[in-house]
Amino acid sequence: MTSEVQISDEGPVRTIRMNRPDKKNALTAAMYDAMAAAIENAGTDAKIRCVLIAGRPGAFTAGNDLTDFLKAAEAGEGLGSSTIRFLHALARSERPLVAAVQGVAVGLGTTMLLHCDYVVAGDNARFSTPFVNLGLVPEAASSLLAPALMGHRRAFALLVMGRAFDATAAQACGLVNAVVPPVDVDTTAMEAARDIAALPAEAVADSRRLLRGSPDEVVALINKEVELFKKRLRSPEAQEAFKAFLTRKR
Ligand code: COA
Repeated sequence: MTSEVQISDEGPVRTIRMNRPDKKNALTAAMYDAMAAAIENAGTDAKIRCVLIAGRPGAFTAGNDLTDFLKAAEAGEGLGSSTIRFLHALARSERPLVAAVQGVAVGLGTTMLLHCDYVVAGDNARFSTPFVNLGLVPEAASSLLAPALMGHRRAFALLVMGRAFDATAAQACGLVNAVVPPVDVDTTAMEAARDIAALPAEAVADSRRLLRGSPDEVVALINKEVELFKKRLRSPEAQEAFKAFLTRKR
C-alpha cells in the first residue's frame, strides 16, 4: 500500500484521495493499483454504496507521472498494467463514482471524470488533456465518451488541440455538475455521495446500468487506445516532449 493514496470509509461512502501534493498528485503505478483495488473492492462490499475520488487543494491530479512515461517510452513499453487495471476498474465500477476536483486536472485527471456519475469542481479547477501536445493519443475511452458528452467540436478542442477548460466551460459542456468555492468542494461532493448512498441500492445499480450501457464496449475501446498509445509513447515526438517538461527551466 502506498501513502500517496488514502482510502477511508465513512458509512456507505468510500473516499479515495490522491495524496502526492509535492508532485501535483501525478499518478504512479502504486497509486493506480491502490485506486483500482479500492474501486474493485467497493463493488464487492455491500456496505459501500458510493465511491468518492478526491485530490488535494490546488491539484486533483497532474495525470500520469511523466518520468514514468519517459521510462516506459525508452524501454519500448506502453501504459503499465497498473494504469490499465485502473482504467478497467473505472469502466467496470459497480458503484456510482463521484469526483471532487480542485485545481489542476490534467490528462487522466480529466478523462477519469468521464467515468464519474457526479462531479463537483472548485472555481479554480482547470481541465486539460495535452495528449497530442505530448505526441500521444487520448486514453480512458475519452475518444468515445468525450464526443458523446460534449459534441465533436468541444471534444476536439479539449482532446486534440489541448485547449484547457475552466470550471465554467466544464460545467457548460456537461463534464461537471456543480461549481463551488474550492473550500466547499469536498463537502459538496460528500453530500452528493451521501445522497446517492441513501437511495435504494439495487434501483441505483439497475438505473446506472441502463444509463451507462455495457462496459464491454468501453473496455474494448480502452484496449484499442492502449495499443495506439504504446506506439505513440515510443515516438521521438513523445520522448522529446517528456524530456522538455522534465528538464524545463523555471
Ligand atoms: N509527472 C511528473 N511530475 C510532475 C507532473 C507529472 N505529470 N506534474 C507535475 N509534476 C511535478 C513537477 O515536475 C514539479 O516537481 P519539482 O518540484 O520536483 O520540480 C512539481 O510536480 C510541481 O509542478 P509544477 O509544474 O511546478 O507546478 P505548476 O503549478 O507550475 O504546474 C501543472 C502544474 C500540472 C500545470 C504542470 O506541472 C504540468 O503541466 N504538469 C504536466 C502535466 C502533464 O502533462 N501530464 C500528463 C498528461 S498525459
